[in-house]
Amino acid sequence: RIAGPCGLVIFGVTGDLARKKLMPAVYDLANRGLLPPGFALVGFARRDWAHEDFERVVHDAVKEYARTPFREEVWKQLSEGFRFVPGELDDDPSFERLRATIDDLDRERGTNGNHVFYLSVPPKLFPVTVRQLKKHGLAEQSEDHWRRVVVEKPFGHDLASARELNAIVSEVFSPEQVFRIDHYLGKETVQNILALRFANQLFEPVWNSNYVDHLQITMAEDVGIGGRAGYYDGIGAARDVIQNHLLQLVALTAMEEPVSFDAQSLRLEKQKVLAAIQLPRRLDLHTAHGQYSEGWAGGIKVRGYLQEEGIPPDSRTETYAAVKLDIDNRRWAGVPIYLRTGKRLARRVTEVAVVFKKAPHLPFASTATEELGNNTLVMRIQPDEGITLRFGSKVPGSQMEIRDVTMDFAYGGAFTESSPEAYERLILDVLLGDSPLFPQHEEVELSWRILDPIVNYWAEHTKPEQYPAGTWGPASADEMLARDGRAWRRP
Ligand code: BG6
Repeated sequence: RIAGPCGLVIFGVTGDLARKKLMPAVYDLANRGLLPPGFALVGFARRDWAHEDFERVVHDAVKEYARTPFREEVWKQLSEGFRFVPGELDDDPSFERLRATIDDLDRERGTNGNHVFYLSVPPKLFPVTVRQLKKHGLAEQSEDHWRRVVVEKPFGHDLASARELNAIVSEVFSPEQVFRIDHYLGKETVQNILALRFANQLFEPVWNSNYVDHLQITMAEDVGIGGRAGYYDGIGAARDVIQNHLLQLVALTAMEEPVSFDAQSLRLEKQKVLAAIQLPRRLDLHTAHGQYSEGWAGGIKVRGYLQEEGIPPDSRTETYAAVKLDIDNRRWAGVPIYLRTGKRLARRVTEVAVVFKKAPHLPFASTATEELGNNTLVMRIQPDEGITLRFGSKVPGSQMEIRDVTMDFAYGGAFTESSPEAYERLILDVLLGDSPLFPQHEEVELSWRILDPIVNYWAEHTKPEQYPAGTWGPASADEMLARDGRAWRRP
């Protein structure tokens, strides 16, 4: 579907997210013919840029990060809709200039009053920005035009601040105007979890505690914190990605079938399963956290977290987090869900692994099946997007020897269509007003309910355990599974 007449205002347009993700996504959408001809992109930031500076910055970002090839005619048409508004978020004249710019665009480019405001600014600036939008009449919509706001994560840093933030946003915008971005939901492979489960007959009958031993959800990164010390040190791994990306993956993997795929039905099922999640019963034994120390990444020696620029030498922020959760409902009773995430781990991989129980009986000599593992279905979110199924198979030869083999579906091999980048899909959905891929406030609150006690426990009782960069994380995380007679996968 092609978006109707509209414009996109990005607050914080000089930031990393805008440069690496948002501007390239806008160009890719234009290149695929999904934006209306008069589309407008307004940058708002504190820089004293002239129009040409803004245009050059977008140009460079597109050249470096866009997925689709650069085409002069697409660029020309798109860039005619660029405007830059230099300004401060707490400054009334700046917002008056923004308002005048939007009015001009409505007249000159036919954006018809339809505008998205994208808050690509640090969370502490959300309140002032939404209040300014209200004060200057920019948030109001009517029968003949719409206004929407996009809020980037993190939505607060705990349950109380998330509620506070929501109260402020809802003073200004009604729920259907608010789009909270969790970019994992924009990934093809994440949406495919639902396709796999509910478009097939094969999987759902065994997707429960009768057959599943446990779930392992991993989001491992080989990179460190890069230039994000200021943000990351106040947040840590659990708040940065478990609260949002990983719990969304849990919700999609574990929820019941929705009545339909509209936003309302999906949310309802996600909320039900998030509400059924039980906190770790023993915070000391069922969680683990760590901090990377000096080590190796891609054959290069890298420094530890505490030596990173901008990190206080006594920081206790975790760069690795692992948690064992239970879901108290009929489908999942007794099936542990293990989540882990970390920076500077051995490799970059995000996957959801459904590990099945062992066969109740094997009619083979025990030597024939010595190395047989559990049947495992792995949904590889990234990289090498696809799905694999591991099962035992006879080794060719006169002996009855059985070994694990893997059946592999790779997106690259099965489809010629290329996947849009997550932000491309999500921005288009905002312009179209499609909200199924955006978490609602209730989901955000339910996720903080799970995270708060864990991070508070860590803050009060323990220090993160050091793990060398380039390894699979702290020993305490391995011990957590070993106590249950299990082990983390080594993808
Ligand atoms: C972001 C986190 O939400 O996701 C980052 O704030 C993390 O710390 C990033 O690096 C990972 O995203 P992706 O799409 O590369 O897995």
